[in-house]
Amino acid sequence: IKPINVGLLGIGTVGGGTFTVLQRNAEEITRRAGRPIRITVVADKNLALARNVTGGKCRVTDDAFSVVADPEVDIVVELIGGYGVAKELVLKAIANGKHVVTANKALLATHGNEIFKAAQDKGVMVAFEAAVAGGIPIIKALREGLSANRIEWIAGIINGTTNFILSEMRDKGLSFDTVLKEAQRLGYAEADPTFDIEGVDAAHKITILASLAFGIPMQFEKAYIEGISKLDATDIKYAEQLGYRIKLLGITKRTAEGVELRVHPTLIPTKRLIANVEGAMNAVVVQGDAVGATLYYGKGAGAEPTASAVIADLVDVTRMATSDPQNRVPHLAFQPNAMADLKV
Ligand code: HSE
Repeated sequence: IKPINVGLLGIGTVGGGTFTVLQRNAEEITRRAGRPIRITVVADKNLALARNVTGGKCRVTDDAFSVVADPEVDIVVELIGGYGVAKELVLKAIANGKHVVTANKALLATHGNEIFKAAQDKGVMVAFEAAVAGGIPIIKALREGLSANRIEWIAGIINGTTNFILSEMRDKGLSFDTVLKEAQRLGYAEADPTFDIEGVDAAHKITILASLAFGIPMQFEKAYIEGISKLDATDIKYAEQLGYRIKLLGITKRTAEGVELRVHPTLIPTKRLIANVEGAMNAVVVQGDAVGATLYYGKGAGAEPTASAVIADLVDVTRMATSDPQNRVPHLAFQPNAMADLKV
């Protein structure tokens, strides 16, 4: 069977994890995808790193634009991050008829409407399981598992770095800065950690979840955002004494007036399951009208957990790409008649 060819942009934490897991579990992944998934080229500014991680198993280049134009590449995996060059590369890949897998929540939350429209016009797929809650298959849960439901609300711990900081400050009495440095060392934090601390990363993610859940365009600019930078050890201690735990939650809710979209520290009674989600773990509660409340829990950041989601998308896209293009359904959030009356 003919392999599907992947061009990987960025071989940092998640790119390295993707390369490793794809090699290690090649047999299972091939069986599930129906075809071998082969990384044929890796692009990274750091050529020495790319050579080191790939160990001669594929071509490496420092020219990402050559990858999105490469006629051999079927799927482009964008793991560069940010909304500058990443946006340009994703749009070029789509224009060249390539499917895209991305972990880039910032890009989708702010330019997703344009990107999905371009993909729909071109008839290619853009998959983004890794953009929200790392290894937890929350996108697939909303898109497939809960597709019978009218979603009522979603609330989640969707930033591992801030959850790690809050947990370590409480349990070990460590300072905010010490724990942040550790989160950076472990590869959890964003390139600009203020995105984590100030709630921007969580707002990107809840914007994406709201779009899927309610069928509305991405409206990141309308989100209310408050991070954890104003909290200190005393707040955490007093909350505990009163029987609460402080968690940074991303919340989106259907109301009579429209959709709420917000991120802020929240006091949660300690007996609730979600209050006991510690470290860099993530957890998302989704309330559907038919199913009731459902809870998804797992690692929200880090190399292999995020790679797990990237590769799930590669499998998904490979299956879809091998199916009849006439029968492909557009992305749920972008079906034009979905929920156009809902405003944030
Ligand atoms: N900085 C993010 C987090 C990485 O801490 O959750 C995963 O999206």
